[in-house]
Amino acid sequence: MNGKTLPCYFLILFFLAVSVVSCDIFKRNELPPSYHNGVVVTAHPEASAVGLKILKDGGNAVDAAVAVQFALAVVYPNAGNIGGGGFMVCRNADGSFASLDFREVAPVAAKMDMYLDDEGNPITDLSLRGQLASGVPGVVDGMVKAHERYGKLEWTQLLQPAILLAQQGFPITTRQAQELNGRKESFEKHNPAGTALVKAGEWAEGDTLVQPELAHTLSLIGQHGRAGFYEGEVANRIVDEMARGNGIISHADLKNYEAKWREPVVSTYRGHRIISMPPSSSGGIALISMLKSVEAYPLSKWGFQSDSTMRVMIEAERRVYADRATHLGDPDYYEVPQAMLIDSGYNAERMRNINFKHASFSSDIYAGNLLRIESEETTHFSIIDEENNAVSITTTINGSYGSHVVVDGAGFLLNNEMDDFSVKPGTPNMYGLIGGKANAIEPGKRMLSSMTPTIMEKDGKLFMVVGTPGGATIMTSVFQTILNVVDFDMNMQQAVNAPRFHHQWLPDEVLVEKDAVEDRIRHSLTTTGYKLVDRNSIGRVDAILVLPDGSLQGGADPRGDDVALGY
Ligand code: DON
Repeated sequence: MNGKTLPCYFLILFFLAVSVVSCDIFKRNELPPSYHNGVVVTAHPEASAVGLKILKDGGNAVDAAVAVQFALAVVYPNAGNIGGGGFMVCRNADGSFASLDFREVAPVAAKMDMYLDDEGNPITDLSLRGQLASGVPGVVDGMVKAHERYGKLEWTQLLQPAILLAQQGFPITTRQAQELNGRKESFEKHNPAGTALVKAGEWAEGDTLVQPELAHTLSLIGQHGRAGFYEGEVANRIVDEMARGNGIISHADLKNYEAKWREPVVSTYRGHRIISMPPSSSGGIALISMLKSVEAYPLSKWGFQSDSTMRVMIEAERRVYADRATHLGDPDYYEVPQAMLIDSGYNAERMRNINFKHASFSSDIYAGNLLRIESEETTHFSIIDEENNAVSITTTINGSYGSHVVVDGAGFLLNNEMDDFSVKPGTPNMYGLIGGKANAIEPGKRMLSSMTPTIMEKDGKLFMVVGTPGGATIMTSVFQTILNVVDFDMNMQQAVNAPRFHHQWLPDEVLVEKDAVEDRIRHSLTTTGYKLVDRNSIGRVDAILVLPDGSLQGGADPRGDDVALGY
């Protein structure tokens, strides 16, 4: 070996080492199973089993989704719910598609300054905990409308599994035991009459969580449909619960709540069609804007989380989140410039000033303040049935266990979704997201969401169903999962597993999961103006990919207890 070959030898060793490190990321769950009839991916094994059973009993993807939504309200009470809201994107086997907005709305008595003190400063936690934090729940009307339009099985049959799980109980996971123990004090404070979520001692893995009051509420919904929730006994209990705190949801708010069918936001990315959620979620527009922003760059050639790939993706995320803060809100109250925001030319123009040698400054893009992200929980599920009908639903009560208020006698948690409004222009919400006029509180208005249930097509055929929880990180997680499949050639499970990062314009920092971004790339980024901040885990993507032979491959996020089941 002479002096010239030695450096070459080390260079080869170095690249081998790097490729071993990066291959390791993708090798986990290398070959996920594929199925030919249907797949259900949810955040909890019991809910996935419910969805699968409905499919096997002859239900379609929407039937399974309705049953899963109610089952999650029982087995995943931190985010699954009937006291919150969500969004559905669905695509039928014949290629038609639709989206349903069952987001909560501000009660009629809500006021723009309702969370501010006399000096105009936000009152800590007022939009987050207790009865005043809740918007009018939308889930039950959403499920009724989805079932009316697409359901095949009887409504009561779809409620039955959830009722049984609540009546008979189910074994909680380790993670759930820890979460419930961690919130015991707050549950006791907000629910002086007691709740099934609090037990005398500590919860442990395998303990049975029985929820008889929730079972009763679910059976009323089973018997009476929407009236079982928005009128009668349950409505009375919600209004009584409001009176126990300083809540403002009235009988009229409940009776008038309407989930809305909306035209999905549609675009393309490298020949794939993207069908996603329009406002009142910012998710679909932001996702498409990010995809359009990076489309001109050779990401596949550059590679997963390579230096150039990272720079382009971060700068796209920064610009899109700046737009979100100004331009997005409930379209029934604010004119959203949707066509501009998803336009290829507009996004390409926004990316023109990126510099591969140095980070942009968020303060140069738009002005604003900053705050840290705290505890969060939402849930997403993806379903494809035998005929290839597909459903993508993200649903939430916002923070983990929402407002921490369980409606006394009715056994379900109320959301703290009011915090998703901009309580004061420029003041960040719990996810550090800021907003202004577009997302100010107004009676009857929907608070802006980040939820991004999405369906993709390739060559006119169903290709992927995807979505995730994660507050502000939802849009970037869905964005990255799509790139992982389309640009970096990963299978569904690898794409879900792959480590993530997130930039949301403000604060001007890149949140990174601990496995994300090789050290040498981290070094290159931090020495050129990017502030990288380690964070535990970002998102919990549950997705399904349709393989070229038509079989279905699930991707359940290992960051949670998520499970993909198929047959
Ligand atoms: O609608 C939204 O964007 C938020 N309420 C979502 C909250 C969330 O994803 C919490 N998740 N982990």
